[in-house]
Amino acid sequence: MSDKVAKLSLNGNTYDLPVHSPTLGPDVLDIRKLYGEADVFTFDPGFTSTAACESAITFIDGDKGELLHRGYPIEQLAEKSSYLEVCYLLLYGELPTAVQLKDFTARVTNHTMVHEQMHYFFRGFRRDAHPMATMVGVVGAMAAFYHDSTDINDPWQREVAAIRMIAKLPTIAAMAYKYSVGQPFVYPKNALDYAGNFLHMCFAVPAEDYVVNPVLAKAMDRIMMLHADHEQNASTSTVRLAGSSGANPFACIAAGIACLWGPAHGGANQAALEQLREIGTVDRIPEFIKKAKDKTSGVKLMGFGHRVYKNFDPRATVMKESADEVLDLLGVHNNPTLQVAKELERIALEDDYFISKKLYPNVDFYSGIILDAMGFPTSMFTPIFAISRTVGWISQWKEMIAEKNQKIGRPRQLYVGPPKRDYIDLRHR
Ligand code: ACO
Repeated sequence: MSDKVAKLSLNGNTYDLPVHSPTLGPDVLDIRKLYGEADVFTFDPGFTSTAACESAITFIDGDKGELLHRGYPIEQLAEKSSYLEVCYLLLYGELPTAVQLKDFTARVTNHTMVHEQMHYFFRGFRRDAHPMATMVGVVGAMAAFYHDSTDINDPWQREVAAIRMIAKLPTIAAMAYKYSVGQPFVYPKNALDYAGNFLHMCFAVPAEDYVVNPVLAKAMDRIMMLHADHEQNASTSTVRLAGSSGANPFACIAAGIACLWGPAHGGANQAALEQLREIGTVDRIPEFIKKAKDKTSGVKLMGFGHRVYKNFDPRATVMKESADEVLDLLGVHNNPTLQVAKELERIALEDDYFISKKLYPNVDFYSGIILDAMGFPTSMFTPIFAISRTVGWISQWKEMIAEKNQKIGRPRQLYVGPPKRDYIDLRHR
């Protein structure tokens, strides 16, 4: 597998560590035998230098600001492709032919409805529940509704589970939204495309006709595509870890949704827009920037910074274009939130603190602005991210399950607790 070797000297002994060269990216030291041979662990909280798996799906070069899905640059996909085509690419490794895309689209479209009994399940939630809380519960509960796609050892069941989740996540997210605003659930309309159908399920009401605006449907398709996969980020690693124990696919994706909810990850789009609203007016930006630079304030500029991208986020560049298109269409240039966003972006990009720490607006800074203009409440921003990322989670999960030597994920630790000690009886404490 590898002819390069790194040498580790420790306690007078030398150990050979095989070095693997990936197709792209830095070499990787193979430490799998290290504990057995040298009786040491490695320590890497946050996994900043650790590859936990082999993957052929997505590649990111954070310094160059490059994102490739199966080798194809995100900019080219965003310009020429569609969300469902990218789903096919992520799942099966190649761009589909016209016939394959038609067949895949038909398979997804056939599965957009949810089991009717699920409607009652929704009704058990409080109306004011966060839609992410509802989604974690409902997606986890899919295992209770679709028993015929939970056997992870059956490739056909894995495939059906994948299609079901890609098809039903928009329906579930739209239902969570409708439930929270007290409106009736809107059934999917399969004549519409994937993104248009989602807008329809969110914004149509039985009393009126709803016509999907093609510019908004295209922007939604783009938001979905730009969030489709991002290699081993926190939620994807969560899905892999959950899946490594043999858990069913619905449980694994529910775990991914739970992880995505955090404000340092998928919850950032909601947090970013709420922060813009909290700032309120352009004159309050300097005071706010001051706080974001002060570690003791606990304030971060939401929608800025990324663990991997240290120059720019290529998704943000594309998303910014979409934001301009949508805002033009809707004529919302004077919106105060937008003015704060533009000025904040300008100031932060010129500020030494942000430049020296390589903090740039990430995709979520712009996606929130678009979703707000479309009429989504901030609580729906992260569920839309979850819909979009479902295909990435499933592709990575399928890749992991298909691996021959797949093992349960089980990190080790640097123990810093008390050494062994004897129990003290209650009356002597
Ligand atoms: N505002 C102010 N300072 C920041 C910010 C920010 N948004 N992000 C990082 N910093 C500072 C840190 O305090 C740290 O300072 P130090 O070197 O003096 O200690 C330095 O920049 C490096 O940041 P880390 O937190 O070490 O970077 P890390 O890679 O761990 O975190 C993260 C990346 C979580 C995205 C962080 O930048 C952040 O919290 N950003 C805001 C939340 C956000 O937008 N998340 C969305 C991520 S994209 C996505 O999930 C699609």
